[in-house]
Amino acid sequence: MHAVIQRLQDLLGSAGVLFEKEDLAPFLTDWRGIFSGSALAVALPKTTEQVAKVVKLCGELKVKIVPQGGNTGLCGGATPEGDNAQIILSLKRLNQIREMDLENQTITVEAGCILQTVQEKVQASGAFFPLSLAAQGSCTIGGNLATNAGGVNVLRYGNTRDICVGIEAVLANGEIYSQLKGLRKDNTGYDLKNLLIGSEGTLGIITAGVFKIFPAPLGHYAALVAINELPEMIALLQDLQRLAGNELCAFEMMSRESLALTMEHFPQYQRPIFLTGQYTLLIELANFDQDQDQALHRIQDILESTLEGYLENGRILDAAIATSQAQVNEFWGIRHHITLAQAKEPGNIKFDISFAISKIAGFIASTDRLLSEQFPGLQIINFGHLGDGNLHYNFCAPRGAEASYIQEHEERITQIVFAQIQLFGGSISAEHGIGQLKREYLLEHRGSVAYQMMRNIKKALDPENLFNPNKLLLL
Ligand code: FAD
Ligand code: MLT
Ligand code: ZN
Repeated sequence: MHAVIQRLQDLLGSAGVLFEKEDLAPFLTDWRGIFSGSALAVALPKTTEQVAKVVKLCGELKVKIVPQGGNTGLCGGATPEGDNAQIILSLKRLNQIREMDLENQTITVEAGCILQTVQEKVQASGAFFPLSLAAQGSCTIGGNLATNAGGVNVLRYGNTRDICVGIEAVLANGEIYSQLKGLRKDNTGYDLKNLLIGSEGTLGIITAGVFKIFPAPLGHYAALVAINELPEMIALLQDLQRLAGNELCAFEMMSRESLALTMEHFPQYQRPIFLTGQYTLLIELANFDQDQDQALHRIQDILESTLEGYLENGRILDAAIATSQAQVNEFWGIRHHITLAQAKEPGNIKFDISFAISKIAGFIASTDRLLSEQFPGLQIINFGHLGDGNLHYNFCAPRGAEASYIQEHEERITQIVFAQIQLFGGSISAEHGIGQLKREYLLEHRGSVAYQMMRNIKKALDPENLFNPNKLLLL
């Protein structure tokens, strides 16, 4: 038995350390099942002080640490390497809601708290926690911070970074950095909070965060819109933004192929509108006025009259407006099942990319064409947060293709997509991060100046490369 196991047990008790093969297994493979590794143990501290002790111990024994939350990340960032020389530090038991300050409109939450638990806690107080994504039943607040998660409400509320006003983290030397005052303004030197957010476990172990909470929307109003042309989608987005301002909360796009795949795997979501156009939009508005009836009528009017105008001019093909909250939920059901449908396919390739909205139509038209010419039948599972300029530009093998198809063509498809991203001035990661999946591409994508700055920051904060080695950056 490695010395670290006994020492961890001394610190955390036997319930705080897993080391048997079958106990380790769920922590060693990522959600997509494309990365797996090995670990000496999983440490499960319950307090920030225990996290600090684990970090000091690992520093002393020179055992590397891979932080893990809900293990729903899509880039392999929480999966250890294969050399059986690392431990996983799971934040699962560090999961208390420390404080809800309704006057300041903030909530202070420990890293291992499940996102949905936070949403429910805030909802019970009559307020609203806007971070929302399909993995919310298992992803953690620490993972959301470490990846700067996006989700479906970024259009109105921004991503995790934008709603976080304070952070606590354990540094590589075992010290605790704590800035949990819940200040909305604080210009006292470098922005350390924002350095830790999105650092994917490479700079510190996040143990808690303070988040803004918001007035709860009084009503939701959602529509599905069948549409063929990208420029018309952008025009519709702009019209709704002009008319509804930030009452427009979500503007999501789903290609016909992504919906066909989802209906195939989840037949409960069959709806003719999904196959009417090349794309279906899921648009959601919410109202915040006290006079609910009046406000609902106002946003209802905006959506209905805008869609009617587009329909009359042939700019959209069809529209279905939800008439109840149950229907709003159903619309979101299919949107959230696209990733699950893709996971059921034998192989898939995922690109989580972003562009200036003005560049999206050009990117999709030319990249779809290039790929369809070179890979006939390739299923382009294109969907995403169009309002944020964020596409999940994903692929499955052509129907009936050999099982090895994706593996054989992944490199070439990746080269083409990345070259196109470069051409259209986009980003290789909009919200999922870099992890192991894209680490080889980061230097070229960000350029040597930015990459060296990131390396210097890593060396300054973690000189022994204790935290999540070979993730995000290659030193
Ligand atoms: P993990 O997967 O455990 O870890 C992710 C990374 O963060 C790793 O590098 C890990 O080392 C690091 N980390 C975790 N906890 C800590 C900590 N406390 N301190 C330091 N580092 C830490 N993402 C989006 O942005 N938007 C979406 O819409 C979205 N939809 C998804 C839908 C599905 C069905 C799935 C499976 C995933 C989706 N994701 C989405 C990706 C994923 O849910 C997010 O990246 C989420 O933030 C990860 O949280 P987690 O707790 O599971 O982190
Ligand atoms: C989503 O928005 O559903 C996920 O981020 C997308 C994905 O699985 O690629
Ligand atoms: Zn997404």
